[in-house]
Amino acid sequence: MILHNKRRELASALSERRYSKKTIGFVPTMGALHQGHLALIARAKKENDLVVVSIFVNPTQFNNPADLKNYPRTIESDTEQLISAGTDILFFPSVEEMYPPGEQENENYDFGILEMVMEGKHRPGHFKGVAQVVSKLFKIVNPDTAYFGEKDFQQLTIIRELVKKMNSGINIIGCPTVRESDGLAMSSRNALLSEDERKKASAISKALFFIRDNREQLSVADMKQIIKEKIETETGGEVEYLEIAEEEKLQSISHWDFSKRLRVFTAVRLGKVRLIDNVPLYTVEISNS
Ligand code: PAJ
Repeated sequence: MILHNKRRELASALSERRYSKKTIGFVPTMGALHQGHLALIARAKKENDLVVVSIFVNPTQFNNPADLKNYPRTIESDTEQLISAGTDILFFPSVEEMYPPGEQENENYDFGILEMVMEGKHRPGHFKGVAQVVSKLFKIVNPDTAYFGEKDFQQLTIIRELVKKMNSGINIIGCPTVRESDGLAMSSRNALLSEDERKKASAISKALFFIRDNREQLSVADMKQIIKEKIETETGGEVEYLEIAEEEKLQSISHWDFSKRLRVFTAVRLGKVRLIDNVPLYTVEISNS
């Protein structure tokens, strides 16, 4: 694996590779890698000649300074995992490298309703920061395909929109959420949970799967209310939002309409940690390809 810390060096190394007609798969991350990240890398490896992974804890997408400070940073174990996964290139820039003082930040994308609901509503400016860093990374790496997790489904939707706004031909692939054996969605932030919080956190995904499996038993409003209370009682945490929305425009529904592809989304505060999860409410076809 080759490590690059400088944008210019990475861009020139990749332009040479592109000249020899190699396809480039790109997986942007903030590090503290786990099986969820590794699943994206495995898919990228299968579908491309070259795999580029970036690790950059992007300050502009953190609306809470304590969250940025506490975000786990584990570059040594990340590097080992990336090598075992067969990563070709790691891009690991500093904050100054990505945001040089004095450099004009002229991209300001507007995602309308997509950035106003759920995560957008509760983390003002978050998606502007995500779009800012991902558009920079896309311009440096210029991959054929980039891989994102459904764990952050709203982010995936914003990235698909970003690519359209950038008039870029980058193909965006969404990959299913990888879970712990008790159902908890894998997340770098899980490492920040206490032992007790970690045990209780499995109630979040269980509640979302309950909605999927019992969706016709209750009205949308009753289901949301009952499940919100259930999550709060079982985790001792606080539900910031629990929404049932259609996938494409992320519009919340108030009456069941199974002609649409629906998903349930939640964010839960457990002590100092904020966890998000979502589950499709339709049957997902498993493909072996
Ligand atoms: P990060 O949280 O490190 O996630 C990197 C990628 O891994 C994202 O596409 C995310 O959706 C995916 N991912 C995380 N947990 C997953 C899981 N349990 N199963 C499947 N995929 C999972 O998301 C970010 O970083 C940043 O916002 C970033 C896009 C890198 C921009 O800074």
